Amino acid sequence: MKELNIGVVGAKFAGDFHVKTWKRITGARIVAVADIDNAARKEFIEQHGIPKGYEDYRKLIEDPEVEVVDICVPNFLHAEIAIAALEGGKHVISEKPMATRLEDAEKIVETQIKTGRKYFYAEDWIFAPALRRAEGILKEGGIGKPLYSRGKESHGGSHSPFAQKLKFCGGGSMIHLGVHPTGFFYHLFGMPVSVTGSCSGGGNRNLNHPEFEGEDWALGILTYQDETRVVVEGNYVTRGGMDDTVEIYGSEGLIKVDLTFGNPLSVFSAKGYSYAVEKADFTMGWTRPAVDEHLSLGYKDELEHFLRCITEGVEQEKGTRAEDGYDILRIIDAIYRSNREGKRITF
Ligand SMILES: NC(=O)c1ccc[n+]([C@@H]2O[C@H](COP(=O)([O-])OP(=O)(O)OC[C@H]3O[C@@H](n4cnc5c(N)ncnc54)[C@H](O)[C@@H]3O)[C@@H](O)[C@H]2O)c1
Repeated sequence: MKELNIGVVGAKFAGDFHVKTWKRITGARIVAVADIDNAARKEFIEQHGIPKGYEDYRKLIEDPEVEVVDICVPNFLHAEIAIAALEGGKHVISEKPMATRLEDAEKIVETQIKTGRKYFYAEDWIFAPALRRAEGILKEGGIGKPLYSRGKESHGGSHSPFAQKLKFCGGGSMIHLGVHPTGFFYHLFGMPVSVTGSCSGGGNRNLNHPEFEGEDWALGILTYQDETRVVVEGNYVTRGGMDDTVEIYGSEGLIKVDLTFGNPLSVFSAKGYSYAVEKADFTMGWTRPAVDEHLSLGYKDELEHFLRCITEGVEQEKGTRAEDGYDILRIIDAIYRSNREGKRITF
């Protein structure tokens, strides 16, 4: 079986979980990593046994061995690197959001069409096994017609210094966290007809994070053609570890998914241990450690799907195509615009 050669851009948090996940996937081979931080790149190469390292991501794109560029750097670089990689003849996998500005996302869609290379918008929630199962039950009619849904990602604040600055992140907790439920509901229900948003004011007008230029709490109400509603939320005011939930209320039932704490494992530790769950403050006392985050948050099935799309011609899931990433960013942008202008935004 031919292996797919992957070059990862970004050697920290997201780069780490991508590489750890790729290593679990048959047919994937990491051939290079690029990062401007020399110390981080060196440590990453040693830790993961990666053959080649580049300071400049352009060199990774020029590397003839690299077939797929996997973008795991801060948000403001997603568009620039995706466009350069597509132009360089590579397939692209990009972490969320697609870009920090709508016009840049539009350019990615244009470049993807022009070059005919594949672009994968990496919304892992679409592949999370619990959400996959929920989708199956919904599609078979198990809860009747979906009427109202809500989904949120929340934790106590991103670890990444890039996430705190508007010019690097493109916004605050909505574009960084709320983008997950938004992408998942786009996968399920498609594009809403209108959006209303409410966000904390950023900086000193935030609820708990004056150091974040973007908002630390945000909510969007998405209205669909048939008057059904979806509420999406992203907040940085949640202590105790990442809290990701989805609820879908139907005419004949309802579904509740607890993505981060919904597992069979409870631990009491008097002295604490190394790791419980993403963004957990500490591990002493009673904790609910994740059993396997790379699986439960969808990364494994997501990257495996992308690999099969390239190597076997499998059709891309709705919600992962370039035009989907663009639509999802249109929804996020409309939430911000609605909050700024104090009115409902219609598409
Ligand atoms: N899907 C998810 O659940 C999830 C979770 C966390 C992060 N992310 C996404 O992953 C991306 C990276 O986030 P992170 O938490 O790993 O950030 P991070 O700050 O931990 O790491 C970013 C890395 O990018 C490097 N970098 C910066 N500029 C660069 C450049 N020009 N060329 C090459 N490398 C450069 C930095 O040196 C750093 O090592 C973000 O877009 C974030 O939204 C997704």
